[in-house]
Amino acid sequence: MSEEDTQLKPTLESVAEQLKEGKFKNVIFMVGAGISTSAGIPDFRTPGTGLYSNLQRLNLPYPEAVFDISYLRRNPLAFYTLASELYPGKFEPTDFHKFMRTVDRKGLLRRLYTQNIDTLERIAGVSGEKIIEAHGSFAKNHCIDCKTEMSNEELKRIVWESNPGKTTIPKCKKCRGIVKPDIVFFGEGLPRAFFDSMDEDFPESADLVIVAGTSLTVSPFSQLPEMVDDDCIRILFNMDAVGDLGTRDNDLLILGDCDKNVRKFAELCGWSLDEESEEETS
Ligand code: APR
Repeated sequence: MSEEDTQLKPTLESVAEQLKEGKFKNVIFMVGAGISTSAGIPDFRTPGTGLYSNLQRLNLPYPEAVFDISYLRRNPLAFYTLASELYPGKFEPTDFHKFMRTVDRKGLLRRLYTQNIDTLERIAGVSGEKIIEAHGSFAKNHCIDCKTEMSNEELKRIVWESNPGKTTIPKCKKCRGIVKPDIVFFGEGLPRAFFDSMDEDFPESADLVIVAGTSLTVSPFSQLPEMVDDDCIRILFNMDAVGDLGTRDNDLLILGDCDKNVRKFAELCGWSLDEESEEETS
């Protein structure tokens, strides 16, 4: 490998050095369900353990129907049966979430694009204004027809407490339409904030991009890594290579368990992932 090639080809060690030297001040994360699997939340497509391989009990026409808006109208029980297993509140952030919090606390985080609806980025303590929940979240609920809001307390009371042992579909007080959490279903548009941030962030505002725990299967999120400037280093923490990661000389693929590998990366940066031992960035 020639001299300039070695400069081009980044390694975890060289990127950690540059982070410590303050070379990267605008880190952008692009993450998916794989960063939450060690929290106990299944991802979607890993064969055998992914959510889409374990929905037989819902008798769906196809797995993604559980998150399809037209199917919800016909059979809302499928989603609400699954929602009880996914509802936030019983899961803890993983080491990968803690790493993103550390990058934020060091003042180096520009944006965190997530496809996840588990809100573990917020629970980990990442600054809310840096987080783009591209596929929405359970944070709020609205009627799918007249958009009237319903509180989480009321939704949970209706669905799981109003008729113990049964799942009751929440209906809008105003128009009797079905109420659902603000998760982006197939057939719905992504939040405005996703497109506004995308316009601001790409192609050149990031100086380091970290993609993790995603199959990059679902558009338009899956297009984000390709929008990054050619001279920006892109690191992938994932079980397997995905998207166009690995096609550029300055891409870095770290394949395997993302928590284990990000712990090694944090160590190389000299950072602890525990909240207590983090010094605030001066
Ligand atoms: N470490 C590293 N990679 C992991 C780990 C782990 N511990 N666990 C899972 N992965 C990888 C899987 O190998 C897979 O490549 O994470 C990826 C998860 O891919 P998906 O299950 O497709 O999840 P995601 O990419 O987030 O799905 C995108 O699909 O159904 C929609 O809206 C839903 O937001 C979701 C979107």
